[in-house]
Amino acid sequence: MDPVRNPYAPGAGRKPAALVGRDNALAAWQTSLQRGLVGRTDQPVVLYGLRGVGKTVLLSEFRRRATERGWIVAQIEAGSGKSLRELLGEALYGPLSDLARPGVGRRLLKGLKTALSFKASYDVGGTWRFGLDLSGVPGGGADTGMLDTDLKKLIGDLAGAVEEEGIGLAILIDEAQDLRSDELATLCMIAHAAAQDNWRVLIGFAGLPSLPRILAEAKSYAERLRYMRIQELNPNAAAEALTIPAGLEDVRWHPDAIAVVVNAAGRYPYFLQQFGQESWNVAAGPLIGTQDAALGVARGTNALDNGFFRVRWDRATPAEQAYLRAIATDGDEGSASSEVAARLGRKPASLGPTRASLIAKGVIYAPEHGVVAFTVPGMAAFIGRQVDA
Ligand SMILES: Nc1ncnc2c1ncn2[C@@H]1O[C@H](COP(=O)(O)OP(=O)(O)OP(=O)(O)O)[C@@H](O)[C@H]1O
Ligand SMILES: [Mg+2]
Repeated sequence: MDPVRNPYAPGAGRKPAALVGRDNALAAWQTSLQRGLVGRTDQPVVLYGLRGVGKTVLLSEFRRRATERGWIVAQIEAGSGKSLRELLGEALYGPLSDLARPGVGRRLLKGLKTALSFKASYDVGGTWRFGLDLSGVPGGGADTGMLDTDLKKLIGDLAGAVEEEGIGLAILIDEAQDLRSDELATLCMIAHAAAQDNWRVLIGFAGLPSLPRILAEAKSYAERLRYMRIQELNPNAAAEALTIPAGLEDVRWHPDAIAVVVNAAGRYPYFLQQFGQESWNVAAGPLIGTQDAALGVARGTNALDNGFFRVRWDRATPAEQAYLRAIATDGDEGSASSEVAARLGRKPASLGPTRASLIAKGVIYAPEHGVVAFTVPGMAAFIGRQVDA
């Protein structure tokens, strides 16, 4: 069928035509937004799960729902080498300038002035212009250089501003496992302060399955977070991820074709989008049949091998690839580090740097002490398909 009308959206962070199977997380977020407005705080939400399971699009939906209510939202992605300070500062600029207008209340003016000082703390040359005269206004002081102090000042003053405006502030952080541990600790501290002083501030984290442990190691307040594991879709939702987008274009799926794609995808959202897209392209329409689905899965697997899996594989050095192969022997379940070392004929300690490098690259994680597993579903099978050693 016409690829121009193809409604599927495989790709990191790409908004699906139908965001399915996340009702619980969305309902919880909706409640938090409503609670925020009546001065009741909620603990930060932590979305964690494997690659391609839909954490980023869920976080973006959180943003959309907060923005819809007029909230200030800063959505950032850690891991680019930039500090939390800079990422947050820059993400806040747009929403804050949208609020700046003549005649605003004094608490907003104060928040803007403090935001200016925060900007100065990481960017001495740059200045923001809100188009308002802030010279006689109280505020500022978020530029001591101490992250704890500065961020608490900034968020505290912005909390006052959003309350005055009848809105709230949401801070959403993707790939949070890549934040430095002092940055994570600072955010947990802010969440704690927000709860004590009833700030209308909501924090959402998203990241790999290692994130809960990393948070726990960063700060004792971490046990007060709300952990939500994001997993493959349930069978109904997985079918809907295929049928709802098609339905919007008056295209139907044969029930057997749905089963072919849902099984092959293991109900993982990324794979459903990829196989859905390819099945659509090969089908004559307006019905996607079993043969279309089988061909779609074959082509989709090829596309994943050359993209989703390949980028991670190619980022690994030959020594790291050997390590990954040794894990792949156990499938996607994970392996004991000692067992991996034995397979490679090495002492476990000598493989520490290889293991650490692969964790830093986000390809593997440690589900528990002494165990390593792929962050990418289907990685073991992909490695099995690679013949070049
Ligand atoms: N609930 C959902 N329903 C339908 N499609 C979804 C859903 N969640 C995610 N997708 C699709 O799955 C793909 C991956 O989503 P996303 O990038 O959010 O995953 P992720 O968990 O953030 O992955 P990574 O760990 O690699 O960042 C996208 O193509 C997206 O459209
Ligand atoms: Mg993501």
